[in-house]
Amino acid sequence: MTRKLFVTTALPYANAPFHLGHIMEYIQADIWVRHQRMSGNEVHFVGADDAHGAPIMIAAEKAGITPQEFVAQIAAGRKQYLDGFHIQFDNWHSTDGAENHALSQDIYRKLKAAGFITSKTIEQFYDPVKNMFLPDRYIKGECPKCGAKDQYGDSCEVCSAVYAPTEVVNPYSVLTGATPVMKSSEHFFFKLSDQQCVDFLRGWALQDNRLQSEVANKCKEWLEGEDGLGDWDISRDAPYFGIEIPDQPGKYFYVWLDAPVGYLASLKNYFGKTGRDFDAFMADPSTEQIHFIGKDITYFHTLFWPAMLKFSGYKTPDNVYAHGFVTVSGEKMSKSRGTGISPLRYLEIGMNPEWLRYYFAAKLNAKVEDLDLNPDDFVARVNSDLIGKYINIASRAAGFISKRFNGVISTAWATSDDAFLANLRNAAPEIQALFEAREYGKALRAAMEQADLVNAYVDANKPWELAKKPENDAKLQEVCSRLLEAFRILTIFLKPVLPQLTTQVEAQLNLAPLQWADVTTPMPDQHVIHPYTHLMQRVDPLIFDQLFDAPTAAPAAVADAASTATSTIEPLAEEIKIDDFAKVDLRIAKIVHCEHVDGSDKLLRLTLDVGEGKTRNVFSGIKSAYQPEQLIGKFTVMVANLAPRKMKFGMSEGMVLAASAADEKANPGLYILEAWPGAQPGMRVR
Ligand code: MSP
Ligand code: ZN
Repeated sequence: MTRKLFVTTALPYANAPFHLGHIMEYIQADIWVRHQRMSGNEVHFVGADDAHGAPIMIAAEKAGITPQEFVAQIAAGRKQYLDGFHIQFDNWHSTDGAENHALSQDIYRKLKAAGFITSKTIEQFYDPVKNMFLPDRYIKGECPKCGAKDQYGDSCEVCSAVYAPTEVVNPYSVLTGATPVMKSSEHFFFKLSDQQCVDFLRGWALQDNRLQSEVANKCKEWLEGEDGLGDWDISRDAPYFGIEIPDQPGKYFYVWLDAPVGYLASLKNYFGKTGRDFDAFMADPSTEQIHFIGKDITYFHTLFWPAMLKFSGYKTPDNVYAHGFVTVSGEKMSKSRGTGISPLRYLEIGMNPEWLRYYFAAKLNAKVEDLDLNPDDFVARVNSDLIGKYINIASRAAGFISKRFNGVISTAWATSDDAFLANLRNAAPEIQALFEAREYGKALRAAMEQADLVNAYVDANKPWELAKKPENDAKLQEVCSRLLEAFRILTIFLKPVLPQLTTQVEAQLNLAPLQWADVTTPMPDQHVIHPYTHLMQRVDPLIFDQLFDAPTAAPAAVADAASTATSTIEPLAEEIKIDDFAKVDLRIAKIVHCEHVDGSDKLLRLTLDVGEGKTRNVFSGIKSAYQPEQLIGKFTVMVANLAPRKMKFGMSEGMVLAASAADEKANPGLYILEAWPGAQPGMRVR
């Protein structure tokens, strides 16, 4: 039976770009989602920005823009990370969206009607200059225990004491420096202490297989602690960037009330765009709701969130899966210590996103354990396992099939009893189950054990030796065909982790997108594959120097490189004005198809999507540099307003851009331009 899955990751605060911890979380969830899709299940995978709260309001004010503008700027930067690391959310929304306002207010109204909302007047520090109540983090002063200066209002970084802001000696407001005063205000509370809540949560949290055992144990502690659960303060006073509490002017929901509702809001927004019925989907008892989160936010997801949903009559989560934190070379990520890795920089310096996906997967398990990124370990796993064991198989076998047998696979072996391949196919259910259980490290280890067996087969049969004598041709074709079938099966094992590589393999082996079920369907006899092009580069360990370096290049080095270069580059063309440049309409084009042109040794025929609702046909003299299948799916830049030109082979409707040296004979090499992840067909380049 196909499952119906609604999967989310935590909604990141919209006050900063993604860091490596976010990317790790998305990769963990994305692998699981892809595994589900390969199993034929229906999955809706959504995310959103967590837009509300005092810190974002204050940051926007500092930047001189509205909070809405502030979060829109952060949101605009998300896509390049998500696309760059092949994270396939179906939708990305915002907790400030209309759906979230409506859903949060609806949940509140229902909780209130069911008697789960109370109010009481509380006293809190207030900044008399800024005229706002101060969150604990915005109060500093001397530690009441050790006397250290400039400590936060809730804890001391010197002696680790934890205290209430009212205990701080000589407190001051971080915003204005003013001495805060005590002021009272009415706050609204969610009655978590209600026995119905406690009973429900115990049953929910301790249900078999709902939570990881360590998380379930924590919940048990929280529920059975001395003072049980306290009521939860869900309101904040204006000024606040958030959602207004119905019928309570000047009162807003605390950001953590509306943040998880953003999961539902993003799904509803997505269903709205695709014409599906959100209410029916959520009411369907077979729908599974699954949240991937980090360990620091379990309390919110295993107590507040399920209770809110339960007592407002909404569906409660089926699973909450928590992961640990990413550390770099054993340390907490920190910009100042030079261990903060910017995910964008990773992409900018040309590191392959699938190396990182593979590395994280190799280190992930189903426990709440921290995960260390260590350069030596990274290089070893990618180079020795991924390239050395897996890619190696294709590079040993595919060339012979293409060059010696016109790409034809012979599967005489498939009908006979073939223990070697049967063994490989038999490993699939276990690997599939490991992905299901989020034991990715074990899944990859099992896959690599199979790759070891395949490599042992390579060594035992030595295709390069067979290739020396023509009388061995049949044997060579058999051995290489069997190896490529083995490679196809291994590719299925790795597909959830390596989507882009898999797409390349599917194109090269001339196969439809691979699913788990395809493990048992061998390539048919006489199946024709495309010529082999190298699938993945090794990691050069030196690249880590660039990754950890300060992002700005040393000016001296830049000047040096430029001065040596000017002596050899072709002279600059005549100076132009900006208007001259504006006449050239450059657009992002997606290469949707590419093929050889019969009778031409220079040209490739490109089919380009420039966002016009129809494709364009362009001939390009880049055959010497590229195989058609290397280009399919890539995004390049084209001159879109060039007059169409009739050529011997047909009409050419534009021109793609490529770099080359002035003297192509002495200095060959042709390099087509490729756009950064995130650019869309039809976008103008200016
Ligand atoms: N906005 C809240 C979540 C609301 S969910 C309804 C939040 N945002 S966050 O940006 O601080 O964190 C987003 C996710 O990133 C969380 O799951 C958090 O655990 C995770 N991580 C933050 N730092 C991390 C690492 N160093 N390593 C791994 N994950 C980390 O919390
Ligand atoms: Zn102290």
